[in-house]
Amino acid sequence: MKTMKREEETLAGWNIIWWLFKLFGLPITLPWLIYHFYDIMQQKRKKTALGNKVVMITGASSGLGEALAHTFYSVGCRIILVSRRKKELERVKNDLMNTHQTVPTYPPVILELDLTEINNLKDEVIKAIMIHGRIDILINNAGISYRGEVIDTNVDVDIKVMLSNYFSQVALSKIVLPYMIEQQSGHIIGVSSVQGRIAIPFRSAYAASKHALQAWYDTARAELSDKNIKFTVVSPGYIKTALSLNAVTGDGQVYGVMDKATASGFEPKYVAECILKSVLKQEKDVIISPFTPKCAIVLRVLFPSLYFWIMQKRARKLERDN
Ligand SMILES: NC(=O)c1ccc[n+]([C@@H]2O[C@H](COP(=O)([O-])OP(=O)(O)OC[C@H]3O[C@@H](n4cnc5c(N)ncnc54)[C@H](OP(=O)(O)O)[C@@H]3O)[C@@H](O)[C@H]2O)c1
Repeated sequence: MKTMKREEETLAGWNIIWWLFKLFGLPITLPWLIYHFYDIMQQKRKKTALGNKVVMITGASSGLGEALAHTFYSVGCRIILVSRRKKELERVKNDLMNTHQTVPTYPPVILELDLTEINNLKDEVIKAIMIHGRIDILINNAGISYRGEVIDTNVDVDIKVMLSNYFSQVALSKIVLPYMIEQQSGHIIGVSSVQGRIAIPFRSAYAASKHALQAWYDTARAELSDKNIKFTVVSPGYIKTALSLNAVTGDGQVYGVMDKATASGFEPKYVAECILKSVLKQEKDVIISPFTPKCAIVLRVLFPSLYFWIMQKRARKLERDN
């Protein structure tokens, strides 16, 4: 008798749960599932359409650029790899062809360039564009980081960081834009940083260069919206790459330290896949970061005084720790 009563109670409990699910769960989950399925199908279709597109990736010799090369090559894009170290670019080219042997595309093109030599870029870049006769996507990824105090940093270092991270992207974009305008299509992706949205102590030159990028892309996007040219600014948080090792210090030396935050950052492959998704969705502004940096960005906009106070505290703490 007792067990029968318990069974009836359990059944009634399940009935209530089922009734609640029908009332609230189904109207939410069903449209979500349909939308999710539709989104997956759309992305698959767009991914296929990416095949054969000509994609130029700067800073392709390591880190995020190398991961981007794998991601875009694996969907069939024709890749142009750009950076200063030819040997590393050749390594990446061989890796791409060995790893994705069945992908029906062309061998990657190597373009050895120092992007800070702004006035020497045009001829070489045009030669590379002419190999496939067009350029569909430019991923402005190359960059350097910086560690130092405002007061002790040589202005030459501020200029070097600005040249590497800002002027090189602007110059390269201006070389490819006439081709994109003639084709009546094109997409330029600027790899910025969370530090392009918020500035933190001891990163003045880096944060300034990335803030400048944000402004340039936002303006270009508006001006060229009638020419079918898309612009995406990607602002990642820390990524596990050699960025801090290659960073420059206030006196122009190489920093040469793998920072803890960088070492525990996102995998480059993950960030590259997020960037591919943002290209497929033609997103304008993408932040790829954990929750805390996203909160800091919101805090900087809504409560600037509180943000400045936190940054002052952080500066004093970092001074004490060093
Ligand atoms: N790692 C992070 O935590 C993080 C976070 C947010 C944003 N980012 C951004 O992600 C981008 C890629 O950096 P990464 O993290 O992948 O660092 P990385 O491994 O040091 O890669 C930097 C790339 O830029 C290239 N490069 C630097 N100066 C150049 C120049 N003058 N001309 C041509 N190429 C140049 C380097 O190639 P060569 O040495 O062969 O020239 C290298 O391939 C940068 O824009 C960086 O600001 C990184």
